[in-house]
Amino acid sequence: MTRKFSDKRLLMATHNKGKLEEMIHLLEPFGVAVVGAAEMNLPEPEETEDTFIGNARIKAHAAAKATGLPALSDDSGITIDALGGAPGVYTADWAETGDGRDFVQAMTRAHNELEAVSAPHPRLAQFRSTLVLAWPEGHDEVFEGIAPGNLVWPMRGKDGFGYDPVFVPEGYDVTFAEMDRWEKNKISHRGRAVKAFVKGCFE
Ligand code: IMP
Repeated sequence: MTRKFSDKRLLMATHNKGKLEEMIHLLEPFGVAVVGAAEMNLPEPEETEDTFIGNARIKAHAAAKATGLPALSDDSGITIDALGGAPGVYTADWAETGDGRDFVQAMTRAHNELEAVSAPHPRLAQFRSTLVLAWPEGHDEVFEGIAPGNLVWPMRGKDGFGYDPVFVPEGYDVTFAEMDRWEKNKISHRGRAVKAFVKGCFE
């Protein structure tokens, strides 16, 4: 049985503005006030695991312990079939420049690696999101969401963040970055994981 959520405040254990804004929007209908990790001056813990769930657990438990609030974390990324599932948990690392993150660099690397192995089209990929809700005393619940699609080149669209400009979700011909943000939320990996979270913890 999934533990129900009965608090008024939820700490979103992320420093990523895009993820925080999406979560505020997705949880609005349930009357939950979502607070960001930056607002609470929380440090970003090191993500030392090699799975989405392992890293999501690190982030949620660290935030819940530090604040005494139930904390929700998201560990997400993109897996590309023709690259054996890369970058996967290293999705953000591909954007690392030594001086902040550059997602044009990350998307270019993905494209170059696909070209190098002459990957056939469509170049199937999946955005994945693992949510962990941790309570301060140590209990947690895990929810997952997947958005299947394919990678395109060149980049298209100005909205969204991360790898959105090269990802066309299954059943669409626009990229995530060309979609209205709320439209994206309905079908995104995080949107799907949140649906599972809501079903488990609120319904
Ligand atoms: P995390 O913060 O360690 O979970 O890193 C996940 C990375 O995956 C982020 O830095 C994003 O670049 C990428 N990512 C996750 N979700 C999305 C999305 O909805 N659109 C585009 N990129 C995403």
